[in-house]
Amino acid sequence: MADKRPIGVFDSGIGGLTVLREIWRATPSEGTIYFGDNSRTPYGTKSASTVRKYSLQNLKFLETFDVKMIVIACNTASAYAYEEVAKHAKVPVVEVITPGADAACRATKNGRIGIIATGATVGTGVYKDAITARAKDLADEGINAEALKDIKIFQKACPMFVSLAEEGWWDNEIARMTAGEYLEPLKAEGIDTLVLGCTHYPLLAKVIGEVMGPDVKLINTGVAVAGTVKDILEKNLLGSDETDPVRKFYTSDDPAMFEQVASPFLGQGLPSGTLHVTTDRYEV
Ligand code: DGL
Repeated sequence: MADKRPIGVFDSGIGGLTVLREIWRATPSEGTIYFGDNSRTPYGTKSASTVRKYSLQNLKFLETFDVKMIVIACNTASAYAYEEVAKHAKVPVVEVITPGADAACRATKNGRIGIIATGATVGTGVYKDAITARAKDLADEGINAEALKDIKIFQKACPMFVSLAEEGWWDNEIARMTAGEYLEPLKAEGIDTLVLGCTHYPLLAKVIGEVMGPDVKLINTGVAVAGTVKDILEKNLLGSDETDPVRKFYTSDDPAMFEQVASPFLGQGLPSGTLHVTTDRYEV
């Protein structure tokens, strides 16, 4: 029997829309409720305990919709709060780091993998740990074993990319200069795979690709996350067969502003009917 309950997705603001877009693409009959915590963004410069509190409040809000799954469409919240959210959630929780790590391990040919993310995500080392663990598992299974037997991981925090993406400056001289400044050291390390470890970064994929060159594969974690969502729905018989699924948006800041900035992140039309909600009233 089809399970028509929606999937709850949250992010610190609009970056998670690059993940939502991939979820829509991979599982078009699923309903989604998206919450962007725009009034408290960015999460990438906040402490672990603050991001945990915010994430639990976001979970409580999304659970009021009787969701069947929660997707933490934010690397920073995944890095700091996944375990807490998974512990408190009544439904399966998907984070964005493990699927991205898996995709990177499958893509590399020379075992040299770069990670770019917010300072918070880089500071936790979660990607490093996830890639190291996944590389070992895949190599043990004989998958891409030659490349994965001695992997080298290089990280770089690129905090300015978040502002550039939100400002719509993803293909101009300032974006190119910033990308050059951040990425040249990674390029010099000879990486052949680069994880876009922040959900804002796919918007800057063009300039990032220009700096890194055609031989470096960029990993858009949203695609990998959507694959994980699909797998879980199929394995747990949670899939929907809706022809016109619900697609609702909530923001903790101004809905009109949210819709304006959301459009390019979603890659299609302007969302409409976005409602304002604050999740700070939820006790955690
Ligand atoms: N979208 C967030 C992430 O993936 C970055 C933005 C923020 O710092 O809140 O980490």
